[in-house]
Amino acid sequence: MRVLVLGGDGYLGWPTAMHFSARGDEVVIVDNFAKRQWELEDGIEPLVAVPPLHRRVGQWEKVTGHKMLIRVGDLCNHRFVYTLLDDFRPEAIIHYAEQPSAPYSMQGREKAVYTQTNNIVGTLNLLFGIQHSCPDCHFIKLGTMGEYGTPNIDIEEGWLDVEHNGRKDRVLFPKKAGSFYHLSKVHDSNNIEFACRVWGMRATDLNQGPVYGIETEQTELAPGLHTSFHYDDVFGTVLNRFLVQAAIGVPLTVYGAGGQTRGYLNLRDTLQCVELAVDHPSERGEFRVFNQFTEQFSVNQLAEMIKAAGSRAGLGVQVNHIENPRVEQEKHYYNAKHSKLADLGLEPHLLTEQAMDRMLAVVRRHAENVNPKAILPRVRWLAGDKTEEAL
Ligand SMILES: NC(=O)c1ccc[n+]([C@@H]2O[C@H](COP(=O)([O-])OP(=O)(O)OC[C@H]3O[C@@H](n4cnc5c(N)ncnc54)[C@H](O)[C@@H]3O)[C@@H](O)[C@H]2O)c1
Repeated sequence: MRVLVLGGDGYLGWPTAMHFSARGDEVVIVDNFAKRQWELEDGIEPLVAVPPLHRRVGQWEKVTGHKMLIRVGDLCNHRFVYTLLDDFRPEAIIHYAEQPSAPYSMQGREKAVYTQTNNIVGTLNLLFGIQHSCPDCHFIKLGTMGEYGTPNIDIEEGWLDVEHNGRKDRVLFPKKAGSFYHLSKVHDSNNIEFACRVWGMRATDLNQGPVYGIETEQTELAPGLHTSFHYDDVFGTVLNRFLVQAAIGVPLTVYGAGGQTRGYLNLRDTLQCVELAVDHPSERGEFRVFNQFTEQFSVNQLAEMIKAAGSRAGLGVQVNHIENPRVEQEKHYYNAKHSKLADLGLEPHLLTEQAMDRMLAVVRRHAENVNPKAILPRVRWLAGDKTEEAL
């Protein structure tokens, strides 16, 4: 297949590009390297330095013989998008190319506006480009479970059947996003659903939970094929952050009471889920939503699991509760459905003791690279525009 991987220099995009290339698909990677700029702005580095994309693609070709093309450009530039789609005519587009961090978007007005402009305009340009150049193409968009928030009812997969005053309808599940970043995904979802309904586009919105993990089958093939692993307060997801804290011997920092519950998944399962979506495209006119996670945990549960992994490794891990920089419920009902990907054949890599021990061992190997100052939260939800001064 002709597969376009947007955001292919990123944490998820690079392993995805290798995964499809390894299957023999024709892969084009798009990125504008914005993430590398955000890292510089906030003084953040991945745990292990990531070689430039061109070098990684060169290494991939050397090791496997598979070619991948790179197109450098910004999705917010519609001419770039139109030319890209006209030239390549993809059959599937996997869209990761957005600003992915809630704290980044909460640093003040400028970053909130940037996040929403980058994410929403980039996606809109793609919708128009697809309609113009490749209307049969399957658009696979990475959304987030954070679009739903933590409602006091079960979370369905995208759609909700409602009965109101004696009448029935099927509506998009109500959203209660927790940051300007999450809201950008809500707006994306609405725009994509509209394009499916009105233009007959085919799309799958993957509402993904926080991803953990470092390794995939392809990253292990040779040195230099690894993906970025962030443990900092802005781009690091909670489990990755805790692993690093355990590895360098500082207390795990649970935000507030720690009852915040979310659905998580292994990086390897992100690849499986995206592959299942590509191989089972939605129908023309269908806006399909999958909740993409495999297990749900509270932050306290994750901290306890890492503490246990630490003791198995001979590390004394301490857990501290610190003031929550976010405005969120710290104890709440959470029951999110996630059966559609399983129905398609997803075989989860669960967070077993063995998986945890392996991740901790990998992180410990690179512990000397860690900047402990980058872990504690610097962005506060209540600070509005003042936060920039604190950074
Ligand atoms: N990592 C997670 O735990 C997670 C969880 C849920 C959803 N997601 C979503 O998955 C996607 C990928 O996440 P990630 O962790 O790999 O993020 P990432 O920041 O590592 O990768 C995103 C890539 O997109 C590129 N990009 C951003 N804006 C662009 C633009 N306008 N034009 C071209 N390239 C652009 C960046 O340079 C970066 O390389 C994001 O949309 C994110 O919101 C991630």
